[in-house]
Amino acid sequence: MTEDHGTPDAPDAGEGSGAQPDQPYGAGSRVQEGPPGSYLTYAGYLKVDELLSLQEPLSDGPEHDEMLFIVIHQVYELWFKEVLHEVDYVVKLLQADDLARAHHTMKRILTILKVLVAQLDILETMTPVEFLTFRERLEEASGFQSHQFRELEFALGQKSQWAISRYPEHEPALGRLRRRYEEPTLWDAFLACLAREGYAVPKAQLERDVRQRIEPSPELQEVLVEVYRNDPGLTELCERLVDLDEGLQEWRYRHVKMVERTIGTKPGTGGSAGAEYLRGTLFKPAFPDLWGIRARL
Ligand code: HEM
Repeated sequence: MTEDHGTPDAPDAGEGSGAQPDQPYGAGSRVQEGPPGSYLTYAGYLKVDELLSLQEPLSDGPEHDEMLFIVIHQVYELWFKEVLHEVDYVVKLLQADDLARAHHTMKRILTILKVLVAQLDILETMTPVEFLTFRERLEEASGFQSHQFRELEFALGQKSQWAISRYPEHEPALGRLRRRYEEPTLWDAFLACLAREGYAVPKAQLERDVRQRIEPSPELQEVLVEVYRNDPGLTELCERLVDLDEGLQEWRYRHVKMVERTIGTKPGTGGSAGAEYLRGTLFKPAFPDLWGIRARL
């Protein structure tokens, strides 16, 4: 959006620059005049007014900390949207055997993931008592119901019929979730690419039921060991998949710790046992074979 802000080397206002003191970047920086909607603005393009009208605290007052709680969840959902957009792109690039761009896009996803993890620090500035000022207003609402998070899990191969069955039939996102459940995952796109690169990926892996979770395969690990020993380019791609896997595990760990310090052993608003349930989701890699080969290298 730099177009709307002028250029860094725009002339200073003053004699000879042609700009007036009240127009430091020249006349071009003025908000244009004309009928609304006849020209593009920053706010119009980004729908800033609509975006800023979407934070609706439910508590009386409203309670001060509820704004942070809403904003941070909305920001997460936006990043989840972007990450899904990029993961889908990596799948397409792998299908087209464009490894360089797949690697580049993976790096973008990992950079976003770091932001996702770091953002939990902000939420940890909210004390347990501050959270309690509005918690009961959440009723049964919980990140548990984030369908984009489930979509991300599915895209990475962490599929679960149970996760789908928790949504009511009228949930608009159910269609997307079901589609992802049936679709090949990032891992399947990677294996198919590996096979086209000439590696002897076991047939059982190439034809696996993509609705099932990814199980470790000793035969596939043989192939991956060969990649790591002889193929620096593909090794880099494998390492980015490990980064992604580790990054998601890191988010889960930090989320549990944040939950433990905020609600302790209380159950979650989503109906689970809370931190105890969340601890059960830790340290479960998405791509087990990439972890399984480490001791052999
Ligand atoms: C004070 C802040 C938060 C608390 C106390 C909290 C608490 C919890 C609890 C207890 C659960 C387990 C399900 C349940 O019974 O509700 C859960 C799940 C979840 N939360 Fe949070 N959460 C917080 C903030 C966030 C934020 C900012 C996000 C970002 C989107 C988030 C995303 C999720 C997701 C995706 C799950 C499902 C995890 C899974 O099933 O593996 N949570 N949360």
